[in-house]
Amino acid sequence: MKRSSAEKYTAFAPFYDLLSAEHPVYGAGRSRLVGSLALSAGDQILDLGCGTGLNFPLLQNRVGPGGRIVGIDRSAQMLAQARKRAQRQGWDNVILLQADATTMVASEVSAQIAEAGGHGLSGIGLATYSLSLMSPWERAWENLWQLTSPEAQLGVLDMQRPSGLSTPMIPLARVACWLGGADIEVHPWTAVGRDCVDVRADSARGGHLQVRTGVKPAGRR
Ligand SMILES: C[S@@+](CC[C@H](N)C(=O)[O-])C[C@H]1O[C@@H](n2cnc3c(N)ncnc32)[C@H](O)[C@@H]1O
Repeated sequence: MKRSSAEKYTAFAPFYDLLSAEHPVYGAGRSRLVGSLALSAGDQILDLGCGTGLNFPLLQNRVGPGGRIVGIDRSAQMLAQARKRAQRQGWDNVILLQADATTMVASEVSAQIAEAGGHGLSGIGLATYSLSLMSPWERAWENLWQLTSPEAQLGVLDMQRPSGLSTPMIPLARVACWLGGADIEVHPWTAVGRDCVDVRADSARGGHLQVRTGVKPAGRR
């Protein structure tokens, strides 16, 4: 029986961290993305499609207990894993909300964040390995934009076909993306180059992992 992407993340949420090839492959992109952001103690970060919260340890190291992480995901099961992670670590600065990033209404979500004790708008917005699962991803990008403050830093980490010496890895990368329900051809990081200023580009694993960070231009909502 073929599982939809949403069903995959329901059934496999408890095993996601184990199966996600974090150490050999995907963690490399995560640390590059977080490393290229100018984060300060006390910042509030929105993590769109946060999954089990694999970004949270890196982010907590940078924003500290006075900062805040707002994680949004469509899957209650993935959020349950993120909640367990926060509880295990004793982080009381994590707000988790269940919503579909492509259909949610930003003003409503912003009000929910404020109700949960956060700022309605975040100074940093991230989407790691998540926009390529969202269809249409442009709607999710628009919501990320709406839920961040003017001149916020935005970061996207996602996947494409490996190239150069890593071309033989293409079939493996395709299988990994298929298993995760990602569309390897959509290249959602292009939105950062299109809409932001001070754009920084990085990549890892033969170009399979694409990292972009940028800043929302002043005056553009
Ligand atoms: C491959 S996981 C990545 C999780 C995490 N960002 C990471 O870096 O490990 C993709 C996540 O996106 C979530 N997702 C997929 N479509 C979504 C949507 N339309 N709205 C919100 N979350 C979505 C899935 O539930 C899943 O947790």
